[in-house]
Amino acid sequence: MRSVAIDGPAGAGKSTLARQAARELGFLYVDTGAIYRTVALKTVRAGADPSDPAQVVPLLEGLDIRMDYGPDGAQRMFLEGEDVSSAIREHQISGLASKVSAIPEVRAFLLDFQRKLAREHDVLMDGRDIGTVVLPDADVKIFLTAAPESRARRRLLELEQKGQKTDFETILRDIILRDEEDRNRPIAPLRQAEDAVLLDTTQLNLEQSLQALLSIIKEKINL
Ligand code: DC
Repeated sequence: MRSVAIDGPAGAGKSTLARQAARELGFLYVDTGAIYRTVALKTVRAGADPSDPAQVVPLLEGLDIRMDYGPDGAQRMFLEGEDVSSAIREHQISGLASKVSAIPEVRAFLLDFQRKLAREHDVLMDGRDIGTVVLPDADVKIFLTAAPESRARRRLLELEQKGQKTDFETILRDIILRDEEDRNRPIAPLRQAEDAVLLDTTQLNLEQSLQALLSIIKEKINL
């Protein structure tokens, strides 16, 4: 099986680009952030504090999370049988996902799940620690980033298109805060793997970013 690991900070366009690249390559696309978001949603629904391991860890036992793919290749997440793919995209869930993801037991719980997918399929997986922890032997590792202002602008557009009301300053502040949390946590922090190729999309539009991504992948894997 072949694997491509794409890591990077919030809002760098990982999901959009990774999904399109995976379709082009015929690989299974795995958005690992969506899995952490689903755990965060479960935490909120259970009335637990996402920063408190003592409240979150007991919820992992018997946690019923499933994923599948729509006809367009989009990954859908199910929590206890309910399709929560839209619910996990709410802005407030982003920060909560970052909080639950700092809990070692949560990461350990999801590690097996992610590795099993990579054993069974050619995967293109995106997240924060895919190249460093989840798939250290990935065939291709890419660190995808962009300036915070450009990531905030893209995220704002995305949320506006979904009819969610918010403003640029709030998004930018939340993005910077979340990057800091993701980079500074003691376990599996966000960082570029030594053997990862850096792709900065600040000056690139979506199509240019996709072509750049595909050319890095195709250069490393003979397709
Ligand atoms: O990529 P995203 O915004 O959907 O991710 C939500 C949060 O989940 C992110 O702030 C950190 C966490 N996450 C993680 O810790 N490790 C991953 N592989 C993916 C996401």
